[in-house]
Amino acid sequence: MDGGGLVGRWEELRLLHTFVDRAAVGGGSLVLTGDAGIGKTALLDAADEYAGSRGATVLRVVGTELEGQVGYASLNQALYPLLDRIDALSTTHRTALQVALGFGEGPPPDRLLVANAATVLLRTAASAPLLLVVDDVQWIDRASAGVLSFVARRLTGSRAGFLAASRNGDNQGYFDHAGLPGYDVRPLSDVDAAELLGLRFPDLHRSITPRILQTAQGNPLALLELPRALSPSQRAAAEPLPAVLPLGRHLQRYFVARVANLPEPTRALLLAAAVDDSGDLGVLLRAGGDRYRLEDLGAAERDHLIEIHDHRLRFRHPLIRSAVVAAMTSADRRAAHRELAAVLADEPERRAVHLGEATIEPDEDVATMLEEAAGRLLGRGDHQSAVALLTRAAELSPGADARGRRLAESAFLGAESMGDFRSAADRLEAIRRAGGDAAASLHYASAAALVMIDEDGHVDTAHRLLVAAIAGSPDARNASNPEIVNALWTLALLCFVGGRTQLWDDLYAAMARLVDVPPDLLSLTLDMFADPARTGPAALPRLDAALRSVHHEKDLDVVQNLAGAAMYADRLAELREPLWRIVLQGRDGGPARKHLVSLFDLGVDDFHRGKWDEAAEFAAEGLAVSEDRAGGFFSWYPRYHQALLAAVRGRFDTARALVDQIAGWAGPRGAGTARAFAHHALVLADLGRGDYEAAYRHATAISPAGVLASHVPHALWMAMDLVEAAVRTNRRAEAADHVRALHAADIPALSPRLAILVEASAGIAATEDDASRAHFEKALSLPTVDHWPFDVARVRLCYGERLRRVRSVNEAQVQLAAAATAFTNLGADPWTARAERELRAAGLGTGANVPRTAALTAQEAQIARLAAAGLTNKDIAARLYLSPRTVGGHLYRIFPKLGITTRAALRDALGPDD
Ligand SMILES: Nc1ncnc2c1ncn2[C@@H]1O[C@H](COP(=O)(O)OP(=O)(O)O)[C@@H](O)[C@H]1O
Ligand SMILES: [Mg+2]
Repeated sequence: MDGGGLVGRWEELRLLHTFVDRAAVGGGSLVLTGDAGIGKTALLDAADEYAGSRGATVLRVVGTELEGQVGYASLNQALYPLLDRIDALSTTHRTALQVALGFGEGPPPDRLLVANAATVLLRTAASAPLLLVVDDVQWIDRASAGVLSFVARRLTGSRAGFLAASRNGDNQGYFDHAGLPGYDVRPLSDVDAAELLGLRFPDLHRSITPRILQTAQGNPLALLELPRALSPSQRAAAEPLPAVLPLGRHLQRYFVARVANLPEPTRALLLAAAVDDSGDLGVLLRAGGDRYRLEDLGAAERDHLIEIHDHRLRFRHPLIRSAVVAAMTSADRRAAHRELAAVLADEPERRAVHLGEATIEPDEDVATMLEEAAGRLLGRGDHQSAVALLTRAAELSPGADARGRRLAESAFLGAESMGDFRSAADRLEAIRRAGGDAAASLHYASAAALVMIDEDGHVDTAHRLLVAAIAGSPDARNASNPEIVNALWTLALLCFVGGRTQLWDDLYAAMARLVDVPPDLLSLTLDMFADPARTGPAALPRLDAALRSVHHEKDLDVVQNLAGAAMYADRLAELREPLWRIVLQGRDGGPARKHLVSLFDLGVDDFHRGKWDEAAEFAAEGLAVSEDRAGGFFSWYPRYHQALLAAVRGRFDTARALVDQIAGWAGPRGAGTARAFAHHALVLADLGRGDYEAAYRHATAISPAGVLASHVPHALWMAMDLVEAAVRTNRRAEAADHVRALHAADIPALSPRLAILVEASAGIAATEDDASRAHFEKALSLPTVDHWPFDVARVRLCYGERLRRVRSVNEAQVQLAAAATAFTNLGADPWTARAERELRAAGLGTGANVPRTAALTAQEAQIARLAAAGLTNKDIAARLYLSPRTVGGHLYRIFPKLGITTRAALRDALGPDD
């Protein structure tokens, strides 16, 4: 920031400095134009200050709207400081000026004479640089305007400059710009606007700055005033913003005046447009009946307040929309809403919204209509509007119980989908204070449970509360009551976060009590997500069926719950499209918690598929969403991915710090799953570092060897890690047990990726070399091997290590080189290093893909192989019909070609099949 506290405006300041410098030696004029509040005065101030610093005399005048058109008032103001120079003028000029400015008596002087006199005065006064600055030139009185229009054109060749600012708009006043050099002051750039907002309102919640920026459209006055017109809790995003942002005092003055002067029918039409954001002229005209007609828009169009495109009305600036609303009374606004509702019979949601706004007194019909509309909006994925409608429905409910019930549902939805825990808490508090049945409702209990965990409560406590509420609900056995179903989903979320079997048992018990079958998606998601090691494989056909029809699914809950079902089957890729839609919606201000969870789901898929940069971006976005908008509770999702990525990329300290953060947070809250997730990152870091003992300890802390811990699905993702760590720490029996458990649970059926990992685990655990080789070969021939580059590269690394130990050097090289390439491409540095170390041990420099045996002649290779197999020179000679001395001579040449010095090293340099 420079130029007297201005943000941005470098170009304008350079222009003004140049102007001031040039005028100081050769005179000149410049008129700034622009909207109210755009920063003209601020720029004049900057020019004024600069001219002063350069030794110029600065004269300042400002036109005022309110002053009556007193003759020459502004000119008087401008020239008063020069009065002591008036003696230098000719008598005619002096008299004319004195009379005009009110210092002398006489008949009104001729306008041209006054103008000439003023010009001469200015030019003579400018023996040293002089700058006349006229702000709001559109408002100076008519007589002065005429004189200044004249003067501004006659300063060239003097040392006097004329700099004015004029507001765009209907009333251009009397000053004549035509032909004068001008500069149109444009809105601030997005970056500068955001900077100004950040500087002046450091406490403004990040989630509402987009609304302010959008409404202000780079207008500095609006950037400064709009936040001030909000209540402190609105500024802190604890309370929702109104549909049309209120204007501050100054904005009111500037913008409302333009609207207030319009004819009454025009204003009524604009008001209807302002409260219905479709801008659909057909609807607006029907709503107005005979109060206004299309022609009435003319006045507003001429005034550049609106534009018409394709039968739609658009406000030229969002501030004008606000001004229209501010210019009318609340009774006018309600009337407009009522009229719109009347003509929107076939658009029930919009109709309900307008009726809700038109109504003040509680009205059960309107409340019901709003509640129904909210239900339909939910089905279409518009949670935000649904919450707003439910809230309004609650406000308009005549009975305390209906009010509480609707408020409870809005609290639940707000917390569950938007992560808006704070206003949910407020609503629950209001329900509690009001007494009545609603505090015993399941929506209340569900919302309360979510608020509780967000407020650092223990998962078990929230769980207990909700279990009791479900059990106590009179309708607890009704599987078609959405309130029951929502409560069960919420309970499932708590069980998932807690990650303990006992928690799930309560949910199963509640499900078992239902009279009819629970909703398909709930059972499917539980089977695939709660404990897939036991219930997953059998549920796969249902998952297939559900995934077939999900592409065009609009209901965010369905998409998200199905993503849960798809996760441990590694089928998230089939949901990318709808998940992306939720993300895009979230970026546009849609439900924040859905946004966050979708980012997580996409990140899981990306991580497994080796799209690590994208996964990192999702994680960063997720962290911002969780901290800004969705409450901090679920920030362990993105942190998990950050920890994983840090681990596999070898940033072990970062991984450790993130893991500590997650685990430290999860511990006191009983969030067992967060802890399991953290361990996954820990295990990958251990393996990357080569600390197999630690890897084994960390993996078995989540699920012991030989056991697939109940309701800890994440242990499946660490299965091969555990087996590898066990073998490397000489726990072959444990490794074998674990492989047995994986097979017994039919985990290979659960997901193609897990099938590969389980088969490879069998290869790692196998004591028999041939059996091991068969498992690895099978693993690498399974479907989808090319989908999971990191997992498969790890399989190849293990296989290559094994091959090298059994002296299949060439084969080992093939696997190790493939692994090294994949790790390099991924940026999995510690793993690349491991693969390269193995390659070197296999006798291959990194990057070389030609086996060293290629340097041997066919006969040398044959001799080398026999020697490596343990035959003596004499034996070899006998087999090949050579003399032992010839064999010795060959070996003498072979050793340096293979880079070895001893016979014993031959075995490592070659494979038996060579
Ligand atoms: N570039 C800028 N950086 C910071 N504040 C600005 C900037 N431009 C204008 N402002 C502030 O915005 C408000 C409106 O600007 P102003 O110059 O009065 O607008 P105008 O004269 O065009 O109506 C003032 O408070 C002014 O200080
Ligand atoms: Mg101004």
